[in-house]
Amino acid sequence: MSTATPRPLAVSSRGPLKGRVTVPGDKSISHRSLMFSALAVGESRVEGLLEGEDVLATAAAMRAMGATITRGEDGVWTINGVGVGGLLQPEGALDMGNSGTSTRLLMGLVASHPITVTFTGDASLSSRPMGRAIEPLSQMGAEITASPGGRLPLMLRGINPAVPITYTLPVASAQVKSAVLLAGLNTPGITRVIEPVPTRDHSERMLKGFGAELTVEDSPEGKIISIRGEAELKPQHIVVPGDPSSAGFWMVAASIVPGSDITIANVCMNPTRTGLIQALRMMGASIEEVDSREVGGEPVADLRVRHAPLKAIEVPPELAPSMIDEYPILFVAASVAEGRTVARGAHELRVKESDRIATMRAALEANGVVLEEFDDGLAITGTGGAPIPGGGAAVSKLDHRIAMSMTVAGLAAAAPIAIDDVAPVQTSYPAFFDVLDSLTA
Ligand code: S3P
Repeated sequence: MSTATPRPLAVSSRGPLKGRVTVPGDKSISHRSLMFSALAVGESRVEGLLEGEDVLATAAAMRAMGATITRGEDGVWTINGVGVGGLLQPEGALDMGNSGTSTRLLMGLVASHPITVTFTGDASLSSRPMGRAIEPLSQMGAEITASPGGRLPLMLRGINPAVPITYTLPVASAQVKSAVLLAGLNTPGITRVIEPVPTRDHSERMLKGFGAELTVEDSPEGKIISIRGEAELKPQHIVVPGDPSSAGFWMVAASIVPGSDITIANVCMNPTRTGLIQALRMMGASIEEVDSREVGGEPVADLRVRHAPLKAIEVPPELAPSMIDEYPILFVAASVAEGRTVARGAHELRVKESDRIATMRAALEANGVVLEEFDDGLAITGTGGAPIPGGGAAVSKLDHRIAMSMTVAGLAAAAPIAIDDVAPVQTSYPAFFDVLDSLTA
């Protein structure tokens, strides 16, 4: 796993980015493809699966609970599922590595099966709060013993039948929403999640695609998502669209490095994921959608991104759920914009793979960026198009998005940025540095 051997890297400017890149499969959709296929009866096929460590942790866990999962030489994955209700008792603990999505979604799946599972993870994952998933799953009848503070390692004893609940999300979290819906899959009756603030809706779209009875209604309290349990999922052929979060690094790199002109192919444009594009456009970025189409039930487009002078904005807090993973790279864009960008209302950043407010503040400040930290975000005074000073250290804290964001910052820095460890990039974007080489060749 990414924690094994730290990989330091000094990143300097390399000139304009040019050419075409196809980003790897979306991480959220890849996790769900494996999990839902593993619960269908029969053989599913998945093309374009993200082969990063996080998704491989999900694959290993589903195998340990009975699914047969293989990768063909053509890169297509084949999954033979056990059926809803058919998950088997794994022999050992499930190692979730760095992956919060694997952990919280699998906690949901296990909660309504009569098995007992111990979840473990790396130092980053073991510091993240699991109480948000423990609370609703306990209401459904699962017995969960967590480490102090509701953290990993934790042991979850599932129950069958579980009790259907109606649960209003106290935090905007697609992972918690999905955990409850997945527990609901094997629970008699109707399980409901009320979502006051919309978050990524891949679980809803995909579960419907797999044949689950799932409805989404608008109400004054928010979206009401209802799933009928004891569902039967039918195997699917899934084509995973490109990850907009991975695309974000190239969008910002091309926007801030003068002379750049790139095309990013096959980007998932699901509106619950496009907040960064909206924010960058507000800042004056040149992002053109070419060949908009549909892939695997999701809107997809190619994006042509050219260098453009960026202006500071107040990032609308309501964009937060649709760009929650993109704040680190947005902070890099803000560092070269003209004026003071204020990004607040993103308290959730404190509990991601690292505390992304503190980690980005430290990394940017060490490289001469002027900023102010709030409990829920940062204000950053940009250079107005000049390179950021650089010449400092950046500590990635086992956080892939920090490592990639600070790499992009290095491309727009006057002196090299010394990143202590870029190994975590393996969790979500193993080809990141090869792509960087090809775009700057
Ligand atoms: C994800 C949901 C988000 C996001 C994470 C992936 C998902 O987490 O940050 O990278 O696939 O459901 P939260 O649900 O904690 O906001």
